[in-house]
Amino acid sequence: MIEERIRNVIESFIRVNYAGEFGAKQIYKNQIKALKSGLEAGVIKDMLSQELEHLEYFRDLAKRFGVRPTVMHPIWRISASTIGFITGKMGMSAVMAATSGVENVICRHYKEQIVELESILLSIGCGHKDYEFLFDFKERIKQIMAEERQHEEAGYEYNKHESIASKVIFKATGLCSRLAIFISKKI
Ligand SMILES: [Fe+2]
Ligand SMILES: [Fe+2]
Repeated sequence: MIEERIRNVIESFIRVNYAGEFGAKQIYKNQIKALKSGLEAGVIKDMLSQELEHLEYFRDLAKRFGVRPTVMHPIWRISASTIGFITGKMGMSAVMAATSGVENVICRHYKEQIVELESILLSIGCGHKDYEFLFDFKERIKQIMAEERQHEEAGYEYNKHESIASKVIFKATGLCSRLAIFISKKI
């Protein structure tokens, strides 16, 4: 049994991360559906396969800890699918601007969690019964963050000569992600 104070932190991390990875899956899935070129959709499929692994990891943990999904889950499904479909219809440059916009915020979010987990690990010390689990949890989030960073950078690479439209999409998707994280932490 994990100590209650630590358990609360882990559960809130699982809930928000599960919501985020679910949103990512919906965005990429709908972009693939909406993109005209199969070649372009292939690039997104590779990212989607990583998102599915992330989602599976947090879904398993949610089951194990009995964490309920955020009450906003149905709203996230609709909004993420809409963002995915619209940017997919607009084309690859919009898709990649959305990717960097979302992943930039996600990376910052994961970084914050890693810092918090590191400070808990430091405070409990390696003799603590929950140390190993927390350490592995932090390492897995680090790994996931590295993959999100690759997605973010692929987006920048594609939009090297940014148009106004991609700048707007970058900002708007970043803002939506920040809002989604903020709300999923609360309810
Ligand atoms: Fe992810
Ligand atoms: Fe990602």
